[in-house]
Parts: sequence; C-alpha cells; structure tokens
Amino acid sequence: MKIEFFETIDSTNTYLYGKALDKELCEECAACADMQTAGKGRKGRSFYSPQNTGLYLSFLLFPEMELDKIMMLTPLTAVAAALCVKEMTDLDIKIKWVNDLYLEGKKVSGILTESSPYIKDNKPSFVVVGIGINILPPKGGFPDEIKDIAGALFDSLPERYDDLISFKRDLAQRITDRFYTMYKDPSRERFISEYRSLSMLDGKTVSIVDGPVVKVLGIEDDFGLKVMDDDGNISVLKAGEVSLLL
Ligand code: BTN
Repeated sequence: MKIEFFETIDSTNTYLYGKALDKELCEECAACADMQTAGKGRKGRSFYSPQNTGLYLSFLLFPEMELDKIMMLTPLTAVAAALCVKEMTDLDIKIKWVNDLYLEGKKVSGILTESSPYIKDNKPSFVVVGIGINILPPKGGFPDEIKDIAGALFDSLPERYDDLISFKRDLAQRITDRFYTMYKDPSRERFISEYRSLSMLDGKTVSIVDGPVVKVLGIEDDFGLKVMDDDGNISVLKAGEVSLLL
C-alpha cells in the first residue's frame, strides 16, 4: 500500500476521509504526517500531535469482508503496530483493551477508526483507520490534561537510529506492510492469539468508566473483554473504556 508523507497536515484521518468522499475510485492507500494541526482522538477528543514527537499514520480501506471482520480492523492495527514497535525497539509494548498501546503504565499510542457515512449491504463503503504513536515526549512535556496518562517510547532517540524522521519512516513502512498483509488475509485464530499475548489486562482489576470495579478474565474471540464483578457475575464488554487500578 502506497504511503503519502506530509510534514504538516490537519489530520491524516480527515485527509483520507475527504479523499474517499471526493474520489470514489481512489485506491486503498496510507497517509503519514510529521505533525497534525487538528489531530482527532476518540469520542470527539483532540489528539495532541506536535512536531518532532510522534508518528501519525492513517489507512484508507475499501473492505470487502463481512461486517464482523471489518470490526476487527482496529484491534488488527493495534497488533500490527505493537509487533512492529517491539521488533524495532525491543520495548515491552502492551495492548490495553481495546486498542491503546501502553509502555510501562503510560499510553503511547491510540487508534481512531472512522467509517463512511454510507452503508451498503450492511457495510460501510470505506473505512479510515488512524494511529498516533508518541515516539519522544514533546518539548515542554505533554499538556496538563494528558500528562498523567501519556508517555512516549523513548526519552530521547537511541543513538542506533540516525534521526527521528528516518525512524518514523521506517516504522510507518513496517506498520503499513504488516497491517496490509494481515488485512488481506485476516486469520482470526493467529491474530486473536497475538492480540491475547500482547494484552495487558488479564487478571487485573479495572474500573469500568461509569461502571463498577471488576476483574478481567480475558479477551473473547470477538475482542470483547470478559470480566467478573465482586459477586462473581461474569459479563463481556463489547465497547467502552476501562481504567487499570493499581
Ligand atoms: C485516541 O487515542 O483517542 C485515538 C487517537 C488517534 C490518533 C491518530 S493520529 C493519526 C490519525 N489522525 C488523526 O487525526 N487521528 C488519528
């Protein structure tokens, strides 16, 4: 899949979404930026994307698979990115359900998936999946709102890498290649076992946002989070957010 590189853009997701809306026949492709002026996060939040800090990468897809497989695109991106970061850096990256990447208790990456406004045969006509990875902390640190949660892969770039731009390009290419291979042949068994071995919540006590404190039992085959409350009631969360209790 071809990657278009930008120094600055509003948002790689917005760019590819607009491209798909404007030119219905454009091909599946990727966009990567060194900084975003209007980076978007989940739930209408913004995603802090300053220069010399992170990798901002999005994929435009025209999935022909069934809806249940389309729903796997976000965790698939998390697995592809986690494996590529591990391969390049040896860092102990984990996935925090459902699609954030964590390193030593801090969120270093998030994913935003957006679907086309049109649905045909119960499927979106296109999907944009975007991932942001904090490679270095921003100059002056993360903004107050996220400073307790956000982290970066490194404090400073290890000497074995020439410079941040070439590190980012290499990482973007690896994630794109791995993601696209998995996307074209999503073997659920292999992929779910990779997801499970990267998952950081198993056996942990978490608090469901706007809900109770529960113990995590594992990840279901459809990526639901199986949890048990204090009374022993077992349920499966299909979406939402949980926070890890120390
Ligand atoms: C989140 O954690 O809330 C999701 C963050 C997703 C950020 C990425 S950066 C590349 C792409 N472009 C965007 O505007 N957002 C996604």
